[in-house]
Amino acid sequence: MTIYTKVILNLLLLSLKLVATSELESKPGISSIEVKGKQFINSQTGEPFLIKGLAYQPGGSADVNEDQDPLSEPTICSRDIPLFQQLGVNTIRVYSINPDLNHDYCMSLLAMAGIYLILDVNSPLPNQHLNRYEPWKSYNPFYMEHVFKVVKQFSNYSNTLAFFAGNEVVNDFKSSQLSPRYVKQLIGDIKMFSDKHCPRTIPIGYSAADDLNYRVSLSNYLACYNDSTPMQIVDFYGVNSYQWCGQQTLKTSGYDLLIDAYKDYSRPVILSEFGCNKVLPRKFGEIEGIFSQEMLKVFSGGLAYEYSQESNNYGLVEILDEGDIKLLSDFHELKNQYCSIDLANVKVEISKDDMGDVPCVDQYKNLNVNMEIAEELSKDLIEDGVEVEVGKHIAINLNKIHINEAIYNADGTPWKDNTGLKVVYDLFPQTKEKTVSKHDEKGKERKETTDSKKKNTATSIKCLSIYDWVVIISAITLLVITMF
Ligand SMILES: *[C@@H]1O[C@H](CO)[C@@H](O)[C@H](O)[C@H]1NC(C)=O
Ligand SMILES: *[C@@H]1O[C@H](CO)[C@@H](O)[C@H](O)[C@H]1NC(C)=O
Repeated sequence: MTIYTKVILNLLLLSLKLVATSELESKPGISSIEVKGKQFINSQTGEPFLIKGLAYQPGGSADVNEDQDPLSEPTICSRDIPLFQQLGVNTIRVYSINPDLNHDYCMSLLAMAGIYLILDVNSPLPNQHLNRYEPWKSYNPFYMEHVFKVVKQFSNYSNTLAFFAGNEVVNDFKSSQLSPRYVKQLIGDIKMFSDKHCPRTIPIGYSAADDLNYRVSLSNYLACYNDSTPMQIVDFYGVNSYQWCGQQTLKTSGYDLLIDAYKDYSRPVILSEFGCNKVLPRKFGEIEGIFSQEMLKVFSGGLAYEYSQESNNYGLVEILDEGDIKLLSDFHELKNQYCSIDLANVKVEISKDDMGDVPCVDQYKNLNVNMEIAEELSKDLIEDGVEVEVGKHIAINLNKIHINEAIYNADGTPWKDNTGLKVVYDLFPQTKEKTVSKHDEKGKERKETTDSKKKNTATSIKCLSIYDWVVIISAITLLVITMF
């Protein structure tokens, strides 16, 4: 190799490094998201926030127990969060967690990765959700305690975007007659509790079943204002929608009807689940629809269903026995779609204006909203508070993270593109590199016994900008020219 080539090779390496570090330059903190009018906004910049989201509940929502939930395991979060970044998501939705566990590590890693959380306050365990057919039994102090613990613990993370007070509680005729009043009550309870005991007030939403008979009238009922129960107003509404299957347009999918149904709604609306699997392979063409100019007049993005392959066949990845990951074709399809949407260049036309309170009326179509309810039930807990460890971000030293789980392509060959976690936000600009969390130590201990061949690096080459490509290509051209 001539000295000349060496110099140019070094130049090439340097330019690659430059690209990596320009990506690496992390901003301090991650700012919280608020609701303003019909928009989610970044509390720091005031810019509208659109959700490029993903549902995350490995093992299904029943896989929550005393020892483990989706945000309690440092090693699992270290494995999965870089993949969320690869997919280009900025928000995940988790359906159930156990507030008696510690979630600082996973929430901090998510924050460093620039990813927000929307969390359902319920779980399938007994006394941890409303029973849609007998809500008066399940709306009890044990249940309220669970909900308040979740809210109190997660409200202190700046990257907690929102809570869902319920998911598809109203999903058929019987539940539509029995449970709407309880959902509204619960929303008010959470807000009163938050006001008194939480460091930050997090937007409270509801995620509605894919059923046109109920979801529009329920959205209006949950957002209406009643003088005697002023806190019982939902902050945003989520619509679970699986109506865009295969190749569709706004019209053939019926998205145009969704736009129409919510165009005058006073709050932000999102697709709290999407990703029809009736036509396979999934191409996620709806993402183009969700981020179309028409849709962005009313909707603030959505959450693809879902990360892990479960029995209902919606997965992007399969989690193998040893915790290794197999990327399915859905993973690449979703990544392509999300990476093709550059949020910085998307024009948001959702109204920022406060639409004011819409007074409640006596009747809502297809719903019974006139039930008697034990309104005093939550009063003591709201007064006294609940005992729970409040969440806080911790410093994580990325050099100490070793991901031991292998990641494979669908055909079983090793996946080559793993670039590890890219730090977007530095949570502790001052104390950089000094602290190693106790979780981190734990994760390290557990993992250092096995190999560390898949060592994490803090760079990422996903979604390179045009500038980056120009630098790389010019360097390569220079190299080629000098070699000949
Ligand atoms: C307002 O709330 C009170 C107390 O819960 C209830 O009795 C009344 O029916 C509600 N009014 C409307 C219009 O929903
Ligand atoms: C809330 O979070 C902040 C910043 O992460 C932390 O300093 C504070 O101690 C937390 N609050 C509690 C009560 O733990």
